[in-house]
Amino acid sequence: MIIKNICCIGAGYVGGPTMGVIALKCPNIKVTVVDKSSDKIDSWNGPLDTLPVYEPGLSEIVNKVRGKNLFFSKDIDDAIDNAEMIFMAVNTPTKTEGEGAGMAADLRYIEACALDIARVSNNDKIIVEKSTLPVRTAEKIKDILNQHGKDVNFEILSNPEFLAEGTAIKDLFKSDRVLIGGDSTESGKKQ
Ligand SMILES: NC(=O)c1ccc[n+]([C@@H]2O[C@H](COP(=O)([O-])OP(=O)(O)OC[C@H]3O[C@@H](n4cnc5c(N)ncnc54)[C@H](O)[C@@H]3O)[C@@H](O)[C@H]2O)c1
Repeated sequence: MIIKNICCIGAGYVGGPTMGVIALKCPNIKVTVVDKSSDKIDSWNGPLDTLPVYEPGLSEIVNKVRGKNLFFSKDIDDAIDNAEMIFMAVNTPTKTEGEGAGMAADLRYIEACALDIARVSNNDKIIVEKSTLPVRTAEKIKDILNQHGKDVNFEILSNPEFLAEGTAIKDLFKSDRVLIGGDSTESGKKQ
């Protein structure tokens, strides 16, 4: 599969800077960042001094690539449908009630995101999970995609983000660790 279009769901602290750096480093790939918050997308498309995330070096990158190969859009379905690779960078707050309250991650946004991808996708896609989540979350995402999706193949990769707020761009340019896991290789299939 040749990657020409990437979509990132979630234009927050991880989605914005990470996609900015990918767009800068991969000028031949069109990167579209979407969010259910229309105000956030407006801010990403607005003046460089009022972007929704402040990180040293970020506005310079956005200035270079926005409108060239980096786009911020409210049309989530269209961006999903057109992408060969979809990053999930939605929030995963700690649960405040029910089993695991105060400790476990609330996966409702991840699940909603997976349902959107399943509903909209008309062709095979690689799904990259950027959130730092409990082991086996990728399997849960795969179940949702396979149960609700059309006759398409989804490959799920776990690629948790370790950037720190305040040094996000520095961390993205020179990461001290990169973790990628999936189940389509022999090593990825090992339990
Ligand atoms: N902020 C950090 O420093 C940091 C570092 C490493 C990892 N992470 C992890 O990365 C993930 C994302 O964190 P963040 O800080 O970017 O969150 P964030 O709250 O800044 O942004 C998440 C965005 O996702 C959007 N969203 C939620 N559900 C959606 C949906 N179904 N469709 C479209 N948009 C949706 C929200 O509107 C929000 O703008 C979390 O799992 C977090 O734990 C964060």
